[in-house]
Amino acid sequence: MPSSTSADLRIAVLIDAHDRSRFTCGVESLDRYLKTQAGQDVRRKANAVFVLSRDAEPDRVLGYYTLCAMAISRGDAPEAARKHLPRYPLVSCTLIGRLAVARDQQGQGLGSILLADALQRAFDSADTVGSSMVIVDALDEAAAGFYAAYGFARLPDSLRLVMPMRQAGRGTER
Ligand SMILES: CC(C)(COP(=O)(O)OP(=O)(O)OC[C@H]1O[C@@H](n2cnc3c(N)ncnc32)[C@H](O)[C@@H]1OP(=O)(O)O)[C@@H](O)C(=O)NCCC(=O)NCCS
Repeated sequence: MPSSTSADLRIAVLIDAHDRSRFTCGVESLDRYLKTQAGQDVRRKANAVFVLSRDAEPDRVLGYYTLCAMAISRGDAPEAARKHLPRYPLVSCTLIGRLAVARDQQGQGLGSILLADALQRAFDSADTVGSSMVIVDALDEAAAGFYAAYGFARLPDSLRLVMPMRQAGRGTER
């Protein structure tokens, strides 16, 4: 299910034709995940993996992100987000587990394009499988800063950030 983004860019489900071997984003665990684990996760439906590429070079992975279902305790959500949440002890969420852009492509807006696509996909999917929030687990302070710039609220003493699904439907407008 390709979803066109801008001009010659496309974001589509990971397939065997994507060349994962050359992907380097600067974070070894994210490179290794794509090379060794992502395909199996897709087959087992443990994660959905979406890949950004250019039409001219469709096999080259410029970036990727993963989505999966999870739940958190309602009490763990930040106060401001809680008013948008159902009063269940466990709240259904969509996790953007990983998001990465190839090192030589960073700083050109591709991370923002991937995040916008992830939020839109999470929002659209919530009509089929309910989900009240989008969650991200940032790897470090820099990554947390990236997500916070798009309106994610940080949980105290944690690198986890959340966004109510209603807000995710408004995309990455800042
Ligand atoms: C974080 C990452 C995905 C950003 O991708 P990118 O393509 O370089 O980002 P963009 O060019 O789309 O930048 C979008 C905006 O986010 C800001 N931004 C980018 N990286 C940031 C960071 N580490 N901290 C704060 N803001 C950041 C940019 O300044 C830009 O803001 P602007 O539009 O006001 O100029 C990329 O640097 C990356 O893959 N890093 C390694 C893996 C990683 O840390 N992933 C996230 C954790 S899972």
